[in-house]
Amino acid sequence: MSQEFLSTRTVYLDQAATSRPKAAGVGEAMRFYIDEVCANVNRSTYAAATDAAMRVLDVREQLCALFGFGDPTHVIFTPGQTVSLNMVIKGLLRPGDHALVSPLEHNGVMRPLTQLLEHGVSFDRIPLAGDDTLDLDAARRMIRPNTRLVVLTHASNVSGTILPILEISTLCREKGVFFAVDAAQTAGHVPIDLTATPVDALCVPAHKGLRGPSGIGALLLSPALAKALDPLITGGTGSDSHTEVQPDYMPDRFESGTPNLPGLYGLHAALRELEQEGLPTRHAQEKTLLLQLLSGLEAFPDIRILGTRDLARKVGLVSVDFTARRDNADVADRLATEFGIFTRCGLHCAPNAHKTYGTFPQGTVRFSFNNTNSAKEIDDTLRAIHTILK
Ligand code: ALA
Repeated sequence: MSQEFLSTRTVYLDQAATSRPKAAGVGEAMRFYIDEVCANVNRSTYAAATDAAMRVLDVREQLCALFGFGDPTHVIFTPGQTVSLNMVIKGLLRPGDHALVSPLEHNGVMRPLTQLLEHGVSFDRIPLAGDDTLDLDAARRMIRPNTRLVVLTHASNVSGTILPILEISTLCREKGVFFAVDAAQTAGHVPIDLTATPVDALCVPAHKGLRGPSGIGALLLSPALAKALDPLITGGTGSDSHTEVQPDYMPDRFESGTPNLPGLYGLHAALRELEQEGLPTRHAQEKTLLLQLLSGLEAFPDIRILGTRDLARKVGLVSVDFTARRDNADVADRLATEFGIFTRCGLHCAPNAHKTYGTFPQGTVRFSFNNTNSAKEIDDTLRAIHTILK
């Protein structure tokens, strides 16, 4: 198989799909687990097994510190964001229940919900209003007596717009509705403090803003939701082995089977780098790149930039529809093949977001970055776009 990409200099602007490079020490930590530790957790007490158990405990505590979350036993490890979202949506909603979502949700939310339509669950989409934000009055009106759950993307993977989770959290608390947040595009990019903004489920992937490996995610559950959720997966936990009934205490209630331990060692290293670097530093550097990219793009006539330009409400992700000048797929292809600039083109698994922004079915070219990208890379990208549009 060709590994040409290993030696080619590239500008990686597809950080919203997965981070590249991973945080320092991630590969080494994963190799350490595979080559040296190689032991299961919660089953045995020899030294290697204890190392693994302590590392897993540490990751729970690191995530608590990062998100202002009080209880490490309510941090659940999952195989990733899609599984976390399925666990919440399918574990909670029953026939007759109603859910609310934004119009910008990823298929990680919409496909489980659409699947549940056949089982008597219904949902509605809170419309957008003003400068690309949620219509909070409509949200209030749309909550019905049978509304059990509001699920929101924290930031759209199509436009980068951050949605008002504090206001929706307050509304959900007032109305007694569970609130789940898909933090796929914000965890590790934007400060999230669950003490100030209580949510019942925060779904966090390891491989995006946290710069850990793929195949591992975390689900931070409130005590109330942890009780209300049925576990989707049950099985061996290494605890209560005398009974064939799933333990009802945390985190075992939701953590059956051997976890992704190489992934957890990798995530541990990634979170250590984030602690050392500091989220505010990352966030500020990403804002500077965002301003640079947006200002540069605004100089091109007849292209359409999606979403708000309010930097306080946008992550490092800019989607552009070049259709009035060039075919989007051609732009993305030329960026990759002629300039080594990698983006993601198309509908980004969020068809309704594109319908909402008027970019369906043509989609957009999405430029997404983090603070491992540089001002020079953004400059090179703007120059490449200039050449393509000439
Ligand atoms: N959901 C990821 C993206 O937006 C994969 O690219």
